[in-house]
Parts: sequence; structure tokens; C-alpha cells
Amino acid sequence: MTRTLHKVLDRFALGLVSAAALLVLTNCSKEVSREVSEENLVGVEGEPLTGISTFSWIYARILSTACVECHNPSGMATVNYHVQLNFADRSAAYTTLLVSTVNGVTSTGTCAPLRVVVPGSPKISYLLGTLIQSYSSGNFGGVDNCTPYAGHYSTIHLSNEQKSALVGWIQSGALDN
Ligand code: HEC
Repeated sequence: MTRTLHKVLDRFALGLVSAAALLVLTNCSKEVSREVSEENLVGVEGEPLTGISTFSWIYARILSTACVECHNPSGMATVNYHVQLNFADRSAAYTTLLVSTVNGVTSTGTCAPLRVVVPGSPKISYLLGTLIQSYSSGNFGGVDNCTPYAGHYSTIHLSNEQKSALVGWIQSGALDN
């Protein structure tokens, strides 16, 4: 009887120890991923939330809500400024983001030629320069006097969650996922 009780207690203790070990491990891996992401997310506060850096999320939560009114075939960005981006549907959005090059901000032409999305390279993707102020230097992508954020027609205010999703998506290869 006591032996069985001991066994049960031993099991219980072992269970507690493994649970504690698991907790420590989980915390450690959190620590590691935080370090990695801060390194990747230059200038963006907040961590990328895993699971949302997909194109589907970005289309649903950013492009189809905050951008499509101007970026569609009959929208003013297309009609008046000949911007190739078309966010009218998900597949057009993906295609045009990946093939588009900048013709010049905008009236001055100083930012051309840059690609809007460069898979794996957030820092030279014009899209991020446009949407995230800290990505927009005075010579974005090595082009003199290029300031995409200041140059965009309307100032966009995205949440950290939205910014992180965009950076994470481009960083991990800008997949059609
Ligand atoms: C109120 C209208 C409007 C909204 C809303 C808008 N844009 Fe724009 N966007 C423009 C116009 C006009 C241009 C072209 C002139 C310029 O660069 O300012 C442009 C240019 C761009 C460019 C540069 C492309 C090129 O070929 O020069 C990008 C990238 C871009 N927009 C992304 C976005 C994204 C992403 C959103 C949503 C988060 C958005 N825009 C929301 C009007 C808008």
C-alpha cells in the first residue's frame, strides 16, 4: 500500500518537474525568438505575431480596407498617377505588389526605379518605406532624396500589429500564403 502510494507520489513529483522544465524551455524559446525578431524588425516596435504574417491576413486586414479605395483600376492612384498597384481582389493585389516598380515618387521621380516588394529584403521594399516611417530614410534603397513615407499621397497610420505582419511577410519571402 505504502509502496503504491510512493509510486504515485513519485510520478506526481516527476510530473511537476517536467512541467517546470517545460515552462522554462518555453520561456527560453520565447526569449530567443524575441531577439531574432527585434533584429529583423528594424524600427518597428512590437513583435511579429506568428500566424498573421501571411498574405491572406495582410490582404484582409490592410490592403482591402485601408488602401483599395485609391488603389483599384478606377481609383485615383491608378487614374491620376498611373500606379500599377491594384488591390481590388486578393490575386491582383499579390501580383501587382510583386511585379510593380516605382515610377517615381510621385511627381519628382526621385525614387525610381525601386521594386515595391523585394522578397526577403524588407529594407529595400518600397512598400515598407511608404507605410513605416522608420523605414523611410532620406535615401531609401540607396536612391538619393528618396523618402517614400513622406512622399505617399496620404499619410498612413498602421498599428504595430499591421506593420509587423508586413515586415514578417516580406522577410519570410513574400509568399502567396
Ligand atoms: C487616398 C488615396 C490613397 C490611399 C488610401 C492609399 N494610397 Fe497609396 N498611393 C496613392 C497615390 C495617389 C499614389 C501615387 C502618388 C504617390 O506616390 O503619392 C500612391 C502610391 C503608392 C505606392 C507607390 C507605388 C508607385 O508605383 O509609386 C505604394 C507602395 C502605395 N501607394 C501603397 C499604399 C498602401 C499599401 C495603402 C494602404 C495601406 C495605400 N497606398 C493607401 C493614393 C492612396
